[in-house]
Amino acid sequence: MTIGLLGAMVEEIEPLLEFFKDYECIEYAENRFYIAKYKEHKIVIAYSKIGKVYATLTATVMIERFKVETILFSGVAGAISKDLKIGDLIVAKALCQHDLDITAFGHPYGFVPEGQVCYKTDSKLVNIAKSVAKDKGIILKEGIIATGDQFVADTKRKEWVGKIFEADALEMEGGAVAVVAHSLKVPFLILRSISDAADMDAGFDFDDFLKSSATVSAEFLICIVDKLIEKN
Ligand code: ADE
Repeated sequence: MTIGLLGAMVEEIEPLLEFFKDYECIEYAENRFYIAKYKEHKIVIAYSKIGKVYATLTATVMIERFKVETILFSGVAGAISKDLKIGDLIVAKALCQHDLDITAFGHPYGFVPEGQVCYKTDSKLVNIAKSVAKDKGIILKEGIIATGDQFVADTKRKEWVGKIFEADALEMEGGAVAVVAHSLKVPFLILRSISDAADMDAGFDFDDFLKSSATVSAEFLICIVDKLIEKN
């Protein structure tokens, strides 16, 4: 099968490129797509750049141009839930867009006509992630991830996002990948490791923990790839 592995920042895919080693690089849509062969399967790796627009573009290119049959996203997130500490892992059971707001027309936050507030992750992929966590004795939280084009470093804003969307973590790309993959009928999974608590220290914590938390997420993602391949 052809598997797309996506991050937002170079730090989020560097551990993947190191692991899959021999790859060809194809330039397309002002981005680079790294193609590797792994256990007779094709792996397409890219980072989108930060935010929903670039994530939408890259997820779409992966599906339409590189024909990936599943998209697995790896990266870091800010914690909303008090259960989540720096370095902890969360897999999204659903994703929403916390900055999508046409409430002036009577719609709920995160909703536009013909869309959905929450997009559910593929349950088979979530189960694979859970079984990897069980095998390895790693704690993996399953929760709602809220996406927006904002780096949140404000306790009030993060608590608002937590209350309105029942979200456990927030980041800047997952909800966009969810819309693309759902619309194009490609199973997807969004995995994140916590880099900060989206509070006043978030900017400093993000800089300090981006690399280590991105590596935690990428290493776990590789185990998911192995288990997915076993089943295909
Ligand atoms: N990704 C990691 N931390 C984040 C934060 N605090 N806000 C938005 N995206 C993030």
